[in-house]
Amino acid sequence: MGRLPGTLVATCSRGLEEVVQAELLALGHSATRATRGAVEFSGGLEALYRANLWLRGATRVLVRLASGVVSSREDLYRLAAEVSWEEVVAPGQTIAVAVAGRHPAFANTSVAALVVKDALVDRLRRVRGQRPDVDRRDPAVRVQLHLALGEVTLHLDASGEPLSHRGYRRHGGPAPLSEALAAGALLLAGYDGTAPFLDPMCGSGTIAIEAALIATGTAPGLQRGFAFQRWWFHDPVLWADLVEGARALSRRAPAPIHASDVDEAAVRATGRHARRAGVGEWIEVQRRDARQLSLPGPGTVILTNPPYGERLGERDRLRPFYRELGDALKTRAAGATAWLLVGDRELAKEVGLRASRRIPLFNGPIECRLLRFDLFAGPAPRRGGGGGCP
Ligand SMILES: C[S@@+](CC[C@H](N)C(=O)[O-])C[C@H]1O[C@@H](n2cnc3c(N)ncnc32)[C@H](O)[C@@H]1O
Repeated sequence: MGRLPGTLVATCSRGLEEVVQAELLALGHSATRATRGAVEFSGGLEALYRANLWLRGATRVLVRLASGVVSSREDLYRLAAEVSWEEVVAPGQTIAVAVAGRHPAFANTSVAALVVKDALVDRLRRVRGQRPDVDRRDPAVRVQLHLALGEVTLHLDASGEPLSHRGYRRHGGPAPLSEALAAGALLLAGYDGTAPFLDPMCGSGTIAIEAALIATGTAPGLQRGFAFQRWWFHDPVLWADLVEGARALSRRAPAPIHASDVDEAAVRATGRHARRAGVGEWIEVQRRDARQLSLPGPGTVILTNPPYGERLGERDRLRPFYRELGDALKTRAAGATAWLLVGDRELAKEVGLRASRRIPLFNGPIECRLLRFDLFAGPAPRRGGGGGCP
């Protein structure tokens, strides 16, 4: 399989399909198909490399190997045994099969992974007289089985570590946001780096760093490795060309990017992570209370995810903070557009401003809303006038 076969799949958090589709369009893929949490496109090695290097909102890039409806172990074995594994796995390479999703025929999903592994191993032993070893921790070839009632799919995982692991953040703060979700929210907000930017509750700095990567045109995958680099048909010359081309595209940030937090440790972490991401010079990091909001310039885009209450009682403790945050937005941010990524709709209502957009997004299993507030100059609207957030 010198050139990879047709269908590639970029997986993503639910709610980011539209973003990933737009990113793929910018990479030259006009014929894409979005499903829940994934976007399909087609191409060869170059398309696959570019997607891994450039997609900001995606979680992984996969190569479709087989798909079909199954209702038993035997069906799944047959489906997996039809894949030309001898073209995917070189002699001596290790393998692992990861499994996601659910299927009534496989109450224990690791049994399904075992069936696929057996089909793969049996086929290679038959064709080649040699079986590959399994290495769950660091396999050369990663197979992904996705279980679903309608269709089971088998993929080759080209990314390995999720694409959100850019490499600049080793230890997040207490509640760090996924890098892909931060970038996806920025792209949903239409942020392109040309307007001033502020995250006034930056935590480990993820949103501001992703903003700086967008603003400087920096490919998010420049600092990390990918599973495809261990494939026997990997083309290191093509890959090096694409990386070099991406490096050459980096530019100055056209507008200021500010990040602040009330917590000194968060301020330090943001600075450290920004430097590691190569965008330290473009982000001004300050210790500041978000209620003392200060905009970096006219037409600022604010995007932030405020603290949320996970434990009982925390919501009540945070209500006054959300009210004061709303007041700060009304009185100190005229002319800005603020986007709040919130997990708690009750708390979001306390902001006391009417959201002009409410976009559902998933932070792992937590359903969030990305709320847009247009902060016009002029008299502040009365609290509660118009219903607030969802
Ligand atoms: C949910 S976390 C943000 C996580 C961040 N997006 C990240 O990826 O790491 C909320 C942040 O708000 C900060 N915070 C809480 N109260 C604040 C205040 N009054 N002013 C500024 N920051 C505050 C916390 O220190 C915490 O870092």
